[in-house]
Amino acid sequence: MKIYKRLFAVTLLLLFAACSKENTVTTIPYITPEESDGVSLKSSAPFPWGAAVNVSLIKSNAAYRALVEKEMSSLTSENEMKMSRIRSSQTAWYFTDADYIVSFAQEHNIRVHGHTLIWHRSPAWLDTYQGDAAAWEAMFKEYIQTVVGRYKGKVTSWDVVNEAINEDGTLRTSIWQQKLGNDYIARAFQYAHEADPGALLFYNDYGNEYSTVKREAILALVNSLKSRGIPINGIGLQMHTRYNQSDVNLANAINSAAQTGLKVHIAELDIAVNPDNNQSLTFTSSLAQQQADKYKFIVKTYNAIPKAQQFGITTWNLTDGDTWITGEYKRPDWPLPFDSNYKRKAAYQGILDGLK
Ligand code: G3I
Repeated sequence: MKIYKRLFAVTLLLLFAACSKENTVTTIPYITPEESDGVSLKSSAPFPWGAAVNVSLIKSNAAYRALVEKEMSSLTSENEMKMSRIRSSQTAWYFTDADYIVSFAQEHNIRVHGHTLIWHRSPAWLDTYQGDAAAWEAMFKEYIQTVVGRYKGKVTSWDVVNEAINEDGTLRTSIWQQKLGNDYIARAFQYAHEADPGALLFYNDYGNEYSTVKREAILALVNSLKSRGIPINGIGLQMHTRYNQSDVNLANAINSAAQTGLKVHIAELDIAVNPDNNQSLTFTSSLAQQQADKYKFIVKTYNAIPKAQQFGITTWNLTDGDTWITGEYKRPDWPLPFDSNYKRKAAYQGILDGLK
């Protein structure tokens, strides 16, 4: 009798496992950084592989820090090098967190990409800053040159201007554009170059893959800077994208950026699987696989552009537990190559496949 009960229990378990297979996320076996299997994104990619990092996690979370050390050859500070952190008031300059990130990277032989000098999401004090045109120009120049100068020789590259173009291709009316005029973009590059002639300077924006109008405006802007002899070295494609974005659109974004002849940085990659904000979505193995295929396509396409233009690929943070998307859109999502337990997802294998 006992043996029948056991057989019944085993059959039930097997049936349950078969039924729930569709809802089981595919993860390849996790190897902790300590038990390295010798595979890492940084050793697999022929170009720098990076992630945006969060300073408090680097400081307080050993698993997070170990993952950065094991997998990344480049890093971007997700927030600590923004003006809202570095100069949150006219008189308050704060470099402690940015310095920490730079020292951590140096200690581990990781490249630092600086993000970002001039952005429309600027600290509130700028909105009430009193000053004539000359004072604005001096303050703008002082900010850029203080930050770039401080990290001269330590920060390899900068997003000098971030997100200056609107969805319809026009120039965004940020506080900078209003106070300094449309050519503030060119002057930001010139000031940054004066402060560190060795730094590689990027224009960074989103939308190249989903909007032809915006893409063409971004390309026109960088081509015009280039033809005027403004010191621009690269174009950053943020690429906050989604699992069902078409391959054609993704390839157009990457290949058209490469046609500028500039270096191309896929600078903020993540692939949302819940773009429709479904509050009850679960991360099925089917979604995991579609996401992995999209990672593979992006990496494969990028790997085919001329080597000299491959500045690198950077994901926007590391794990599904640290992504900005869940906070910003108040929805469940799983956009990154590692899950919230620091385990490799199918997406990780997708990246490796794209590098083959
Ligand atoms: O650290 C404070 C915390 O002390 C406070 O309690 C909390 C309350 O709101 O805010 C925390 O700061 C937030 C910070 O993220 C850290 O989580 C800020 O409010 C929030 O505005 C900030 O959002 C960042 C956002 O840029 C604005 O700077 C996101 O983390 C960051 O991922 C996002 O990154 C941008 C890129 O710079 C440019 N491209 C788009 C990308 C995504 O929006």
